[in-house]
Amino acid sequence: MNKTSDGKASSVLKPDTLLTVGGRDPFAQHGYVNTPVYHASTLLYPSAEDFLAHRGRYQYGRRGTPTSEALENAVRTLDGPACEAVALLPSGLAAISAALLAVLRSGDHVLMVDSVYWPTRKFCDGVLTRYGISTTYYDPVAGAAIAQLFQPNTRVVFVEAPGSLSFEMQDVPAIAAVAHAKGALLLMDNTWAGPLFFRALEKGVDLSIISGTKYFGGHSDVMLGTVSANAATAQALKDFVGTFGLCVGPDDMFLGLRGLRTMGVRLARHYEAGLKVARWLRERPEVVRVLHPALETDPGHAIWKRDFTGACGLFSIVLKPMPQAAAHAFLNALTLFGIGASWGGYESLAVPFDVTTARTATRWAPGGPAIRFHIGLEDVSDLIADLERGFAALALARS
Ligand SMILES: Cc1ncc(COP(=O)(O)O)c(C=O)c1O
Repeated sequence: MNKTSDGKASSVLKPDTLLTVGGRDPFAQHGYVNTPVYHASTLLYPSAEDFLAHRGRYQYGRRGTPTSEALENAVRTLDGPACEAVALLPSGLAAISAALLAVLRSGDHVLMVDSVYWPTRKFCDGVLTRYGISTTYYDPVAGAAIAQLFQPNTRVVFVEAPGSLSFEMQDVPAIAAVAHAKGALLLMDNTWAGPLFFRALEKGVDLSIISGTKYFGGHSDVMLGTVSANAATAQALKDFVGTFGLCVGPDDMFLGLRGLRTMGVRLARHYEAGLKVARWLRERPEVVRVLHPALETDPGHAIWKRDFTGACGLFSIVLKPMPQAAAHAFLNALTLFGIGASWGGYESLAVPFDVTTARTATRWAPGGPAIRFHIGLEDVSDLIADLERGFAALALARS
């Protein structure tokens, strides 16, 4: 390992530089710039004695290869010196469930944000319930008032900021202070901002989860998840992932690592273009609200400005009250925006959503149909022309 591939040694470098050097050790790979893709299960030992003593840097494909180590180290450098360990998982959802199971045991209680990514809620209500772990959902804007919801057995508080689809901001440092004072751990789905715009472990988070499927990969062609742990949780995370035999295919790790190298320039563009389109949408007469915490008018803006250093390309809008069919006409008329799940690729997306039945601690009643956008890397003027086409179709559907 050279000094650039070690998380601690490279802590003085800026994030854009870390993206280019993290996890790379060319002279351990014959001088080649990128770490090769090791397709590996069995690893041979020179002797019976070496085998029995597990002598050697690697033991078995599932337990780590130069490819997995490169990606882990690259993510670790981005998370900063507070990061003690990174685990790679086959999807973002797998990273969420692994992080929760790594630190929970039967009889524990979880405080889960009401605006969480819906499959996380499903995991809590289904699997965790089955294993004797209870969940209470809380208002994303609760901040330090979350203290009232603690039970003697509350082991985990889970935050996701901004919230899935509805984009409420959370006061993560305030929640971290309460959680730690009560002896609980703070877990965060940090996929929206990622380590470039919010270094979660430095803000009091104990396990920071990213769906690498989004901006790590960046090309809508890979499923990947990562969990970054601080000193309090590193051993539990390593034990869980090792015991469960969780690992990622080598080509997917390579795609994640390759994507990371350009994530800085891509995110800068998603951030700028996303805000431009959000501002344009805010002026449209058909739109009543734009849900984007980097907009000055957003209720979560002050927290976003205090804690985050940027925004990705994902936000939502609420249309004026109108039949669902009119919103569908808008979406169906778009030619550059694809209609599909996930986000974080180079291409723009738009999906309709309604989270009325997916909220239990808060009420979602925006008044009109809601749409989530992902702003990709296309020219913004082409995207706006496409949205104008959509609004023309919407007007026709309403007339
Ligand atoms: C906020 C958030 N977290 C986690 C996930 C799950 O990631 P994956 O699709 O990689 O399982 C998603 C997927 O859309 C997401 O939006």
